[in-house]
Amino acid sequence: MKVLIIGAAGMIGRKLAERIAGDGALGGKAVERLVLVDVVEPKGPTGGIADVKTQAIDVSAAKATEPLIAERPDVVFHLAAIVSGEAEADFDKGYTINLDGTRDLFEAIRHEHARSGYTPRVVFASSIAVFGAPFADRVPEDFALTPLTSYGTQKAIGELLLADYTRRGFLDGVGLRLPTICVRPGAPNKAASGFFSNILREPMSGKEAVLPVADTVRHYFASPRAAVGFFLHAATMDTSRIGPRRNLNMPGLSATVADELEALRAVAGEGALALVKRVPDETIIRIVDGWAPDIEAKRARDLGFTVEDSFEEIVRAHIEDELGGSVRT
Ligand SMILES: NC(=O)c1ccc[n+]([C@@H]2O[C@H](COP(=O)([O-])OP(=O)(O)OC[C@H]3O[C@@H](n4cnc5c(N)ncnc54)[C@H](O)[C@@H]3O)[C@@H](O)[C@H]2O)c1
Repeated sequence: MKVLIIGAAGMIGRKLAERIAGDGALGGKAVERLVLVDVVEPKGPTGGIADVKTQAIDVSAAKATEPLIAERPDVVFHLAAIVSGEAEADFDKGYTINLDGTRDLFEAIRHEHARSGYTPRVVFASSIAVFGAPFADRVPEDFALTPLTSYGTQKAIGELLLADYTRRGFLDGVGLRLPTICVRPGAPNKAASGFFSNILREPMSGKEAVLPVADTVRHYFASPRAAVGFFLHAATMDTSRIGPRRNLNMPGLSATVADELEALRAVAGEGALALVKRVPDETIIRIVDGWAPDIEAKRARDLGFTVEDSFEEIVRAHIEDELGGSVRT
């Protein structure tokens, strides 16, 4: 089979590409060709697929994805996006990439469908940012989509398009409302959510990290490893079981900052915990206050999506996947 990953240079896209290349297969079928695109050319993965192509493509450029779809990949993973902070700061850029880029991709598929009957599986990276406060303690499965950011709005429109193009038979779509992915590898970034990862990742490498909110703050998480699992399962599952609601709340772990710190202490010791410095930041406190503490994901769990049960598991996954199995404190 042929597989296309758009957004393959990103944090999840890279891991997804490595996993598929390593397995050499998807859902028990051999992957003969893997095409990886991103606005910056992705690195080729280290696995055993002979035919891997990497390419720099800006999905927001007119008809940019047409040549990719002309190759008729069986599975299309669409992860390319700018994230919430940037989409809020630059209104035009957010709508151009996150919405117009998505619609152009779906249009390229529709046109290929009209030519040849092509109907690929499309897995779309959505977000729990499609939901907006005020929230109950647990956001129910059928909570109205009332995003409070431009990013969340762009993802919500993408979800509607995915569902309609699926209903019309142009593609076979599955939208994944991803929890906040933690522990995010790499250097600390400026995302308001960055501290959730920083306070674990940095101390495990012997570095200080700033905690800008109270220990009681609760949010909804999954590891990068679990996120890759969501994409693989969505690519291979029997979509006749989903029904018309093609966008699914992914399972996650509802946990407090205190739960995170306890996992850090249990795995890396008191020395690592002492590297977390409490420096309240009113702006971040206000932003995080508008985020969902917990989300119902029974439909996805019933359909076979799985996630970690504890923060300790999330931390251990990071140590295995990013730190070669041990911490340095
Ligand atoms: N990481 C999270 O916590 C999280 C949570 C919810 C949803 N998501 C969504 O999951 C997807 C992947 O997330 P991630 O954490 O890997 O993000 P990321 O920022 O690491 O990756 C996104 C990729 O999209 C690429 N991209 C941006 N503009 C592009 C363009 N015009 N053309 C082509 N590629 C472009 C970027 O270069 C980047 O490599 C995104 O769609 C994101 O919105 C992520």
